[in-house]
Amino acid sequence: MKSKLVLLSIVFSLIFTNSIFADQKQLVGADADYGEHLFGECVTCHNSTGLGKGIPKITGMKTNQFITKILAYKSKEKENAVMQMVAERLGEEEINSLALYLSKLK
Ligand code: HEC
Repeated sequence: MKSKLVLLSIVFSLIFTNSIFADQKQLVGADADYGEHLFGECVTCHNSTGLGKGIPKITGMKTNQFITKILAYKSKEKENAVMQMVAERLGEEEINSLALYLSKLK
């Protein structure tokens, strides 16, 4: 019984590590320190805890979720003049670095 539990937890941790790895593998050029630096521009609105008035929390966001949202502003699929302007200026490495940094925050 106990060994089954151990085996089960090993299987689960393998699945878990794999999914993290798969998630970060797509992050070409991602650098969390660079992400932290870039986030300095965002905190005016999404303040350091990510909870500005009427502005959504972006810290702790899953990398894929963050990238999807930023790309939606970039392509003007998602409406918001401010965020479209912010997203327009971000390149792939910048988006990926921000994604990595934000996903590490609570
Ligand atoms: C001038 C204020 C302002 C700045 C600066 C700003 N944002 Fe935003 N952001 C907003 C507002 C307002 C929204 C909500 C827009 C909407 O309703 O779609 C938003 C939405 C978002 C969302 C979508 C969140 C969600 O859950 O839907 C993301 C992701 C985001 N911002 C990332 C960033 C990043 C990264 C930066 C810095 C590079 C940044 N923002 C800078 C005001 C700002």
